[in-house]
Amino acid sequence: MLILGVETSCDETGLALYDSAGGLLSHVLHSQVDLHALHGGVVPELASRDHIRRVIPLLDQLLQQTDRRTAEIDGIAYTRGPGLAGALLVGAGVARSLAWALDRPALGIHHMEAHLLAPLLEPEPPAFPFVALLVSGGHTMLVQVAGVGRYRLLGESVDDAAGEAFDKTAKLLGLGYPGGPALERLARQGRQGVFRLPRPMTDRPGLDFSFSGLKTQARNLIRRHEGTEDAAADIAHAFQEAVADTLAIKCRRALTDTGAGRLVVSGGVSANGVIRTRLDDMARAANAEVYYPRLDLCTDNGAMVAYAGWCRMQVGECDGLDFDVRPRWSLASLQPPAAD
Ligand code: KG4
Ligand code: ZN
Repeated sequence: MLILGVETSCDETGLALYDSAGGLLSHVLHSQVDLHALHGGVVPELASRDHIRRVIPLLDQLLQQTDRRTAEIDGIAYTRGPGLAGALLVGAGVARSLAWALDRPALGIHHMEAHLLAPLLEPEPPAFPFVALLVSGGHTMLVQVAGVGRYRLLGESVDDAAGEAFDKTAKLLGLGYPGGPALERLARQGRQGVFRLPRPMTDRPGLDFSFSGLKTQARNLIRRHEGTEDAAADIAHAFQEAVADTLAIKCRRALTDTGAGRLVVSGGVSANGVIRTRLDDMARAANAEVYYPRLDLCTDNGAMVAYAGWCRMQVGECDGLDFDVRPRWSLASLQPPAAD
């Protein structure tokens, strides 16, 4: 089965072809970083317009790279939500129209389910069950995963997502958008232990997160040390350490609570090297295995959507004729794959 995946939920246009026999054939991506950088964050209307401009040329590029024709596509998966309504509508419109024209099934995919399943594209994929830490710009969640569509939410951020906290703190530090990678680079020049920020909500039971206080404390430090040489790098370092430790403490707790021996980490923030090392160290101490997507599949991409599509479409799940997107959509409301 050859599945086309289309991702347009935020600021990346991503397309991919996943073949159930040959695996991921190729994925292509256009990042809108330069477009939004001018404004310091994602401008939804500009995002939608740019997806419109990019999606068909990217499809042509993907078909050329893989030497496939549209007629060979067996099904089309697209991101139905959560995300920006206008941006989602572009991918959904293109995917559904193409499926209609080709007389093939289409299926709307939950963006966070796609992130959650992305590590299964790797050569040594994790077996079910596992605990998943999803850390992106819009979400921070711990999920107990028994199988595709069998998700129990263990905890989530009560305010900012981890990626959002990275982006906002980076902005306060005068770094560009998106802030996560820029803050990670600056933190490399920071010194250990000059500043210390709290590990929020780790001193009480539970698996929820809170990251907005960290950003506020970082802001106070920035103000207090304005003009001090090296302060920005030291603050970036302290911020990243606090996030990494907090995620590791909560993941360890989730592994203990569920008795799981496998942790899957996905979403844009899972590209962060310090966070990966901290989680690896925690897992070694907890006798657990950790699984990540390859770096270019941590952030938004079409490959994870194509793969999630295959997981569901292989048993015949597909959309009816009604058409909508779901800018807000709970992961826990998903059901296991089922024929329609
Ligand atoms: O999963 P993703 O591409 O989009 C969403 O679904 O939100 O995640 C984007 C987020 C942004 O907040 C970005 O700053 C963050 O992931 N991010 C990082 C790194 N790379 C991306 N955060 C920290 N360190 C990184 N290396
Ligand atoms: Zn994402």
